[in-house]
Amino acid sequence: MSDKKKVVSVPVQSINNVADEIFSITLQNQYIASHAHSGQFINVSVPQVNGILWRRPFGIHRTNADAGTFDIVFKVIGRGTKALKQTKTGDELDIIGPLGNHFSYPSDLKEAIMVAGGLGIAPFPLLIQDTKDKSIQHTLFYGAKSKDQFCSLDFFNTSVHDLHLTTEDGSIGEQGLITDSLERYLKGLNTMEGKYIYVCGPTPLLSRVKLLAHQYNIRAQVSVETIMACGFGACMGCPVPLEKPTEDGRKYLLACKDGPVFNMEDIIIDE
Ligand SMILES: Cc1cc2nc3c(=O)[nH]c(=O)nc-3n(C[C@H](O)[C@H](O)[C@H](O)COP(=O)(O)OP(=O)(O)OC[C@H]3O[C@@H](n4cnc5c(N)ncnc54)[C@H](O)[C@@H]3O)c2cc1C
Ligand code: FES
Repeated sequence: MSDKKKVVSVPVQSINNVADEIFSITLQNQYIASHAHSGQFINVSVPQVNGILWRRPFGIHRTNADAGTFDIVFKVIGRGTKALKQTKTGDELDIIGPLGNHFSYPSDLKEAIMVAGGLGIAPFPLLIQDTKDKSIQHTLFYGAKSKDQFCSLDFFNTSVHDLHLTTEDGSIGEQGLITDSLERYLKGLNTMEGKYIYVCGPTPLLSRVKLLAHQYNIRAQVSVETIMACGFGACMGCPVPLEKPTEDGRKYLLACKDGPVFNMEDIIIDE
């Protein structure tokens, strides 16, 4: 771990219930607020719960360099996130970060086509922040089960040029899967020049986007949410299988250290 990626205790500025069992926490840390990029994450110790050995990883959702703060958003799933939602303003969280690599922006990027399923939305506000000076088009495909499962919609409504929402129950946006909406969009494009897909979400979504990227000959980067333990390459607990071995013969890379962002074509999406 570099000096900057050390365990730090960060004050909680606020915690808000932003959607159904989805919470946003604003944390104070000037280094992360000024230096984090889209796709990077923090690994959080959840001290309230006895018996949790491993930290829990959460993507950095937004940063505010002027205020020295950054946000994470999380869905309550199991013991760690149940405990995390009990956090109060003024508490201190023990975190490591910023960890991992981040999305990259090729020099010919003209349109960033972001695809998010559920909490896979986490890295995308920062992607928009990262690229805001590049005069590129931001297109977002964001799908969830129902309208009470979306977060940061106010931000996306004002910051993306083209927003496509889908829900499985039709309660907001189009009814259906976000990948169907993406496919119609790709089908209608005249050229893929300068267009790149950035995707984050559950495995079935990643798997479908990988097929679509191949079919429509568009390059894609993916941020994976492989289950992790240490978060910085020490435990070998987060292997991501490769389509082809690396030059030094490795068949796997580590999600936490080599990722979480990969070129879609390089990795096998294991369903
Ligand atoms: C790089 C990275 C970034 C992430 N960013 C976010 C984020 O921004 N917001 C967010 O809500 N979540 C995010 N996650 C997932 C988050 O870390 C897990 O939801 C969290 O660890 C669950 O902890 P828990 O103790 O509540 O659940 P546990 O009690 O540990 O697990 C409950 C159930 O969920 C399953 N599970 C746990 N973690 C994952 C996972 N990563 N993927 C699939 N199934 C899992 C377990 O196998 C178990 O069945 C991210 C994961 C990674 C690796
Ligand atoms: S989580 Fe330990 S090596 Fe990746």
